Amino acid sequence: MYVVTGKVALITGGARGIGAAIARELLKAGLKGVVIIDINEEEGLHLVDEFNNEFGQGKALFLKTDVSLRQELDDALRRTVEVYYNLDIVINNAVVSGERDWERNIAVNLIGTINGAVLAHEKYLEKYRSGEEAVIINISSVAGLYPCAPFPIYATAKSGIIGLTRTLGCTPHYTRTKIKVIAVCPGATDTLSVSPINFLGPAYFDLYDDLRKCTPPPQRVSSVSKAVLQIIEGGESGSVWVVAQNKEPSVVKFLDSE
Ligand SMILES: NC(=O)c1ccc[n+]([C@@H]2O[C@H](COP(=O)([O-])OP(=O)(O)OC[C@H]3O[C@@H](n4cnc5c(N)ncnc54)[C@H](O)[C@@H]3O)[C@@H](O)[C@H]2O)c1
Repeated sequence: MYVVTGKVALITGGARGIGAAIARELLKAGLKGVVIIDINEEEGLHLVDEFNNEFGQGKALFLKTDVSLRQELDDALRRTVEVYYNLDIVINNAVVSGERDWERNIAVNLIGTINGAVLAHEKYLEKYRSGEEAVIINISSVAGLYPCAPFPIYATAKSGIIGLTRTLGCTPHYTRTKIKVIAVCPGATDTLSVSPINFLGPAYFDLYDDLRKCTPPPQRVSSVSKAVLQIIEGGESGSVWVVAQNKEPSVVKFLDSE
């Protein structure tokens, strides 16, 4: 079992929502430190203040960073190891939701995840981890696994994350790096997100209404954060997990050629 106690984690898009809940869950499990990466400075600074008051001064650090910019994220990773000396867990979670600006959607949701995963995998985790293993969690979505009519661009980014995870996490990589790379696909989750959806065209609003009618109510954010802790502790490298409807996480079975 991977032990979270005493480890250092970095979470992108961690100022609010699922990322903030994962940070809290990992701090409760005994993290040495957490770095919150986000473009939302106000919420990020407020959250790390809250964490430092609750879990002890110096436990949390906020770094304003846009994950779509490789150099900015690289600088944040470097700053993390300067402050905490180690880096053990990287959680790529940041998201934007606009479909019409598909360049930005892919830049944040897919390229941002590639930036975080590849920089962590190739440059930081092997060198700075404090134990034998390190962990990368890429937050995808059920929209990356099944067709999701209103969100073709988001679905493209999220299925790309699954391909990235399964490849970077496969046995030849794990054998050489001892870095577990795992994807987590939440179903609808109650993050009180206020960002406008910005669909590709008017017909997509109807598709969204149709989807909402047959979707169960959003699950609690804490169901996802608790599941992520469980998956960090026990998930195998290259695995993909669904966390939906407040149920226990379940591993996705693929048709493997291996
Ligand atoms: N909430 C859901 O229903 C749901 C369902 C499935 C998957 N997910 C996934 O869970 C993850 C978290 O979603 P959420 O609902 O908590 O989102 P959220 O909108 O509540 O939070 C996302 C955070 O990402 C930050 N962010 C946006 N662009 C950024 C950038 N360029 N660089 C750094 N940070 C940036 C935002 O400022 C925000 O703090 C996402 O990967 C999302 O796709 C969410």
